[in-house]
Amino acid sequence: MKEIVLSGVRPTGRIHLGNYYGAIRNFVKMQEDYESYFFLADYHSFTTQKDAAALPVQVRRILATYIACGLDPEKAAIYLQSDLPQIPELYLLLNMISYKGELEKVPTFKEKIRQKNVSINAGLLTYPVLMAADILIHRAQQVPVGKDQQQHLELTRNLAQRFNHTFGEEWFPEPQAFNYNNKLLKILSLDGTGAKMSKSDDNPNNAIFIDDEDEVIVKKIKKAKTDTGPTEMNSSTEPVDHLFGLMEQVSTPEVLADYKKQYADCTIKYGYFKLQIAEDLCKAIAPIRERIKDLEKDTDTLKKAVTIGGEKARASADATIQGVRRLVGINYF
Ligand code: TRP
Repeated sequence: MKEIVLSGVRPTGRIHLGNYYGAIRNFVKMQEDYESYFFLADYHSFTTQKDAAALPVQVRRILATYIACGLDPEKAAIYLQSDLPQIPELYLLLNMISYKGELEKVPTFKEKIRQKNVSINAGLLTYPVLMAADILIHRAQQVPVGKDQQQHLELTRNLAQRFNHTFGEEWFPEPQAFNYNNKLLKILSLDGTGAKMSKSDDNPNNAIFIDDEDEVIVKKIKKAKTDTGPTEMNSSTEPVDHLFGLMEQVSTPEVLADYKKQYADCTIKYGYFKLQIAEDLCKAIAPIRERIKDLEKDTDTLKKAVTIGGEKARASADATIQGVRRLVGINYF
C-alpha cells in the first residue's frame, strides 16, 4: 500500500515563489509516488479573515494554481476542507482531549496574542486541533510542512497518541514532517534580510507572486537587495547568495556556473546578473500565469476537480471516522 501524504493551505494571501518552488512543485512529483491529499483549509481562514466576498476568489485562485502547476485531480485528491463533514466531527472529539494549557503554549497562538488588533477567538486557540483533525482524518503518515508548522505537527502526534491511549487502540499513526528529497528549499525575501518570502506580506515588493506580470517581475528583481560588489576573491554576502538561490531554480546549470565564476573572481555586474534571473524567471513563470488566468474562469474544470477530490477524500475520511465512533462508544444499538 502506498504511503499517505497530506498537505493543506489556507486560502488567504497570494501564491508566491516560495509556495511554488518550496511546495507545489514537490507535490507534483509526490502525486506519482504517494496516495496524496492536497486540500484547501477554508475553515481555517475564518480564524483571522471573515470576508465572504474574497473567499471564493481566493479559493478559485489556489485551485487554478494547483492545477496550472501540474497537480492532477485524477492522481491526487484535491479537495475543500468544508466538503468533508468528518473533519469537524473529528475536530470536536479531539477538542475533548486537548488541554487549554498545551494550546496556549503553541507559538503561533502566542504570536497572535502579542499582535495588536487581533481578537482572540476560540477558533484561534483550537486552530492546531482543527489541523490535527485535517491530518488524522486520513491517518496520514507524511505531512510536507515547513519549520513554522512543526509545533502543530508535534501537537497532532500528541493528540493521536492520547486518543489511542484513551480509547485503547493504535488507531492513529503519528504523522511525520516530510522532507521530500531530503532538501528543504527556502526561497527568501528579496530584501536580503534572510526572511522567508512568505513573510513578505507587509511589502509585496519583497516577494514575487506566481501571477505577477513579466514587467512586475523585472522591476522587483531590479530592486532586490545586493551589495556594492565583491572586492575579494571567493567572498560572498547574504543578499547576493539569496539571488543565486533563485537563479539556481530558474537558470540552466551553465548560466549559473558562469555567474558563480564571475562572482568568485569579482567581475560580476549585478545589473546583468539580475536581468538574467528576471528573464529566466519570466520564462518559467509566464506559462503558468497564463494557465492560471484561464483556469480561474473555467468553473467547470475547477468544480470537477474538487468533486472527484471530495469523493475520494470523503471515502477515506469515512473509514477513519467509523473507527473513531466505534472506539469512543458512539455505537449504541
Ligand atoms: N496551518 C497550515 C498553514 O498555515 C495550513 C494547514 C491547515 C495545514 N491544515 C493543515 C497544513 C494540515 C498541513 C496539514 O500553512
